[in-house]
Amino acid sequence: MKAINVAIDGYSSCGKSTLAKNLAKLRGFIYIDTGAMYRAVTLFAMRQGLFSDIGLDESQLVSLLRDVTITFARKGDFVRTMLNGEDVEDEIRSLEVSNHVSQVSKIKAVRSKLKLLQQEMAKSGGVVMDGRDIGSAVLPDAELKIFMTADPEVRAKRRFDELVAKGSGDISMEDVKANLEKRDHIDTHRTEDPLIQVDDARVLDNTNLSRNEQLSLVNSWVESIVSRAR
Ligand code: DC
Repeated sequence: MKAINVAIDGYSSCGKSTLAKNLAKLRGFIYIDTGAMYRAVTLFAMRQGLFSDIGLDESQLVSLLRDVTITFARKGDFVRTMLNGEDVEDEIRSLEVSNHVSQVSKIKAVRSKLKLLQQEMAKSGGVVMDGRDIGSAVLPDAELKIFMTADPEVRAKRRFDELVAKGSGDISMEDVKANLEKRDHIDTHRTEDPLIQVDDARVLDNTNLSRNEQLSLVNSWVESIVSRAR
């Protein structure tokens, strides 16, 4: 029997990747962070000097897209995002990349390229994939779809703590909150594959749930799907 795929969508910084990683580890699935892929394309565009005061040069980025290769490298328990063979895992998490990524992720050609790559990665099953359009567009047939949400204040605090722990010095809670609000708005309002809660998704509000509580709840959902298919 083919292993199931799990699609996790939701707002920025509500703990999707932590849950996805933990679930993948517990079940022996492969974790795929699609946000990292959009971040890597954004870093590419920044390095090419495609952002200016008047915004992003979209047509130039689209014409350079064929020069962009994104892969993941496993290092022990960790997964590192690779842009054209270079480990960019740390760089793509900066607030600067976060502030530019929405302009890149709304471009149709970027989404088409990454969607194909993501579908290829999941074709054999056994994948936990997180993002914004996984249940709706990338893996509409995923056996388990989860829509994650959490109180905006709690999300901002978690993201701020994460950035501080990584040594990102010159940031304020206000900057982090503003970035989250802006990204949520763009992600839910863009034309191309916006973030939506699909009808067959299970909603997980983790405002008051610990990591372990979330993991055991989601694992019980996986278990019930797997045992029904046996
Ligand atoms: O999950 P994240 O915050 O690292 O994602 C970064 C950005 O990429 C997010 O603001 C929206 C975009 N994104 C997307 O449009 N579609 C996805 N499947 C994943 C992320």
